[in-house]
Parts: sequence; C-alpha cells; structure tokens
Amino acid sequence: MQYHIAPLFCRPWTLNGITPRLIESHYETNYGDALRRLNAVTAELETLDPATTPAEAINRLKRDEAAALNSTLLHELYFASIGGDGRAVPETMATAFARDFGSVDRWRREFMALARALAGGSGWVVLAWVPRDGRLTNQSGADHGQNLAGGIPLLAIDMYEHAYHLDFGSNAEAYIAAFMRNIDWKAVQDRYEDAVKAAPPRALEQKEFGDVPAVSVEELKAMIDAGTPVQIIDARPRHYTTRAHDIMEHAAWRDPERVDEWIGELSKEKPVVTFCVYGFHIGCQTAGKLRNAGFDARYMAGGHYAWKAAGGKVRLFE
Ligand SMILES: [Fe+2]
Repeated sequence: MQYHIAPLFCRPWTLNGITPRLIESHYETNYGDALRRLNAVTAELETLDPATTPAEAINRLKRDEAAALNSTLLHELYFASIGGDGRAVPETMATAFARDFGSVDRWRREFMALARALAGGSGWVVLAWVPRDGRLTNQSGADHGQNLAGGIPLLAIDMYEHAYHLDFGSNAEAYIAAFMRNIDWKAVQDRYEDAVKAAPPRALEQKEFGDVPAVSVEELKAMIDAGTPVQIIDARPRHYTTRAHDIMEHAAWRDPERVDEWIGELSKEKPVVTFCVYGFHIGCQTAGKLRNAGFDARYMAGGHYAWKAAGGKVRLFE
C-alpha cells in the first residue's frame, strides 16, 4: 500500500497572522515527513515474514505505523481546518455547539484551554463527532496518540512547536488566537454534515423477542428514584443463582421455570420488570409469558450485569 500526498487544502496567502512560510515549512517538512515515514514503515511491514519476525519488532513497527498514519491524517485535517473567517460560526455549527457544549463561547473556551494545556509539549486538540451518542466532543491527545475509537474528526489544531515556532516563537497563546481567527467554518460544517450521516454502531437486536418491550437500566432506575410503583422480578435461572451472591436491591428472585407458581403474587395494577443475567433469553421469555397473562411486563435490557455496570445498587443474595 502506497499512501499519497494530499494537496494543501488551505490557501496560505489568505491566512490572517500566519505566514505562508510557516505553512510551507509545516506542510513540506512535518506533514511530508509523516507521510514518508508512513510509506517506509508500511513497506517494511509488507515485506517482513510474520512467522519469523520477533514480536518486539512487529510491535514497534505497528506503533510507528499508527503514529505516522495518525500524524498524516491529522495534518491533512489541520490544513483543512484553516483558511476562513474563524469569527463567523455558521448557524448549523452554532446550533450543534449550543446543543453539546451549552454555547459557542463555551466550546471555544474549552477548545482553546485544551490547546493551551499542550503548549510547550506536543499534541493535538480535535473536535470530533461521536455517532454512538450523536454528539460533538473536544479531544486532547499527547503526541499523535489520537485514538477516539469511532470519533469522526472535524477540526484539529496542531500543538507541536513546529506548527508555530517560525512565526510565533514560544508564544503559543498568540498562535492559538491566530488559529481561531482562521478557522474555515465552511469546511468544518461540510465535514460535520458528512459525519452526522454516519450510522451509530448497531444496537443489539433480538428478533425473536421483537414484540416484548424492553426498559433500559437507566429508565428503571429513574422509575425507582421517582417512587413509581414497579414489581421487579429477578428471573435468573436457578442453576445460576446457586453461585450468585448479589441481587438487584429492589428485585425479588423467582424461578423462571415455575412462573405458574408465583404469577398469582403479582398485581396487574402495577408494571412488572423482569431480567436475567445478561438480558438475553430468560428475562425476555418471562416478560413475554407475563404479557400473555395480561400483565404490563417488560424486560430490563442488559440484565443483572448491565444494572451493576451502571452502578445500580445490589444487596446480598441468600
Ligand atoms: Fe504538525
């Protein structure tokens, strides 16, 4: 695999307070170096014999490859982040910042503070879109260690000294201000509009229980906290519970094999939530049986372990 150089995205002569000399040096020397390293290490990886190469050599090469690839990608994003009027934040981006940070100003102050915190060291601050949560986040990373899995980078400021020393000496503050003045919001918004089309990671789907409604652990917790009357049934299989030592605080354990024996204890006036160990079959099946019997029953997605992972309270199970 041969990586190709990307043409300079911004027009250096249009920048406000950042000289073409700095951008040329940065593009040719630092971006170019990352791309050349990336191609060299990729070639080395492609020619080695994985069966006979020592583990530490492969580990080192893969680390070098990741750093060079990240440096390449981030530099391309950096040069595509400037070249506009940074003060004019378009409506779409302003609305997105207000939604995810409270306001444009709050986002700007956070982004700049993260950049300032890297001054004198080396690293990147990146504005990224996270499809899982459908929101924007600012990420700060030392060196090229940018690895927000699944985040889609939209805007990047390079905080290596090579990104400003020629023009600004050690005055990182002035460089950050100049960067902010030059943000190309049109380009950022184009990337944002592409990014929001990325589908979130696929959620767990249990087609066989598609007609049984679920409740999330957070929803159940909110119901409990609000004092909503709800009947919670821990329906973990008997063979499992013999070695379990905890149970959700508000739940009563009932044997899922013997629904007929305990169904009479439940009230049809109050909702029922059932769950099993991980939220797959048993909890769903039990909720399904109760629904067939006329109860307003749902299963708790993720089961016992999702409840615990979310910090839900448990008590000793005897
Ligand atoms: Fe750089």
